[in-house]
Amino acid sequence: MKLTPVITEFWDDPKLYTLDGYRSHGGYQALAKALKTDPDSIITTVKDSGLRGRGGAGFPTGLKWSFVPQNDGKPHYLVVNADESEPGACKDIPIMMANPHALVEGVIITSYAIRANHAFIYIRGEVPQAIRKVAYAVAQAREAGLIGKNIQGSGFDLEVTVHAGAGAYICGEETALLDSLEGFRGQPRLKPPFPAVAGLYASPTVINNVETIANIPYIIDRGVDWFRQFGTEKSPGFKVFAVSGHVKRPGIYEAPLGITMRELLDYAGGLRDGSEVKFWIPGGSSVPMLTAEHLDLPLTYESMAEAGTMLGTGTPMVFDQTVSVVKAVTRWLEFYKHESCGKCTPCREGTYWITGVLEKFEHGHGTVGEMETLHTLCGQIAGRSFCALGDAAATPYPGAMKYFANEFTAATHTSADEQFDPIKSYVFAGAVTTGAST
Ligand SMILES: Cc1cc2nc3c(=O)[nH]c(=O)nc-3n(C[C@H](O)[C@H](O)[C@H](O)COP(=O)(O)O)c2cc1C
Ligand code: SF4
Repeated sequence: MKLTPVITEFWDDPKLYTLDGYRSHGGYQALAKALKTDPDSIITTVKDSGLRGRGGAGFPTGLKWSFVPQNDGKPHYLVVNADESEPGACKDIPIMMANPHALVEGVIITSYAIRANHAFIYIRGEVPQAIRKVAYAVAQAREAGLIGKNIQGSGFDLEVTVHAGAGAYICGEETALLDSLEGFRGQPRLKPPFPAVAGLYASPTVINNVETIANIPYIIDRGVDWFRQFGTEKSPGFKVFAVSGHVKRPGIYEAPLGITMRELLDYAGGLRDGSEVKFWIPGGSSVPMLTAEHLDLPLTYESMAEAGTMLGTGTPMVFDQTVSVVKAVTRWLEFYKHESCGKCTPCREGTYWITGVLEKFEHGHGTVGEMETLHTLCGQIAGRSFCALGDAAATPYPGAMKYFANEFTAATHTSADEQFDPIKSYVFAGAVTTGAST
């Protein structure tokens, strides 16, 4: 399958980040078209395109927009989730650095469609380069009359605020992000009500990922049929895949949904010399791992779900035979333990427990009984936590046990009468692998 550079098409133009650079490649044509269209028909176009959110959960974007109540007399808000902090995910930051105006144009069109007069772009605080690029693009757009009062004589007013986060993974969870934006400690809110009904300042709010919003100008400009020529019925369009790990050319590869990992590996130059794929993760550490036998599966939402994992952020990490699965899982759990916000007991306590037990395995001091303990702990967190961070933390261990139970068994020092039951572990893994969602 061929690569389909769209958002990434002109990334070799060093001036693409400027207004003139973006305009020289057709930028802001979609906005002019959108402002002459009824907002509802923009929502319909995005619904018909079948675009699914690129932040991890793959929720249909047009459908989300249509949940915003109209004529309710309340202000509406658009919030762009640019907090990208998932281990292995690195595609929103490159988009903001190379093509920030695609995001800004998408923000203006989306705000117009959902009738929002104020949009916020919440950017991960640790990447000042991306914050500067987006802030500069917003300032240029404002100066050119693309943001502000009566945009291009349409009567539509929009203010855009660029906000820097303060370094917490949980602030990528949409409701924690809203609390953080309002000036509170970033912790998830109880849902329902969902943000589309009561979000920022208790008003209807659409929250979308950077890549989702950067798709909008291209869909509006080129149309639904053009977008749907890529991908599959359930996963239409293209994706900014970010391939990392033991490949020769890690980086961004924009391709139709449905491309296989083997094809992406070819584009990434294959594995480093003398290496072979041991395991890989389709989209961030929160989704269960796959192995070499899955390299020919199409990278779509539906196919990854059938394989017991998720497409997630579409940022595959590839690991070769030199990597210890026990160590990798332990590192991820240390991350979740550190990033747990502490609001609910299963995640706050459970991530500490799991990490402590995993560290014993890492040093070869686990026991067969503790493998059962890990199963129990993951089962107590998955589906019982307040937000999806808990589910994510309960994913790596059972996901790894499905294929690499032998590595955990090898890290035990047990008496011969303690026998681990791999069948039981497999069943357990199957039960929780669908649990991680965002
Ligand atoms: C712990 C956690 C972190 C998340 N981090 C991000 C993030 O950095 N960026 C993002 O777009 N979505 C993130 N999400 C998903 C968001 O909650 C939300 O689903 C997404 O922003 C919706 O946008 P989309 O529909 O365009 O995908 C995270 C979810 C969780 C539970
Ligand atoms: S699951 Fe974890 S991160 Fe989410 S609310 Fe509970 S403690 Fe906080």
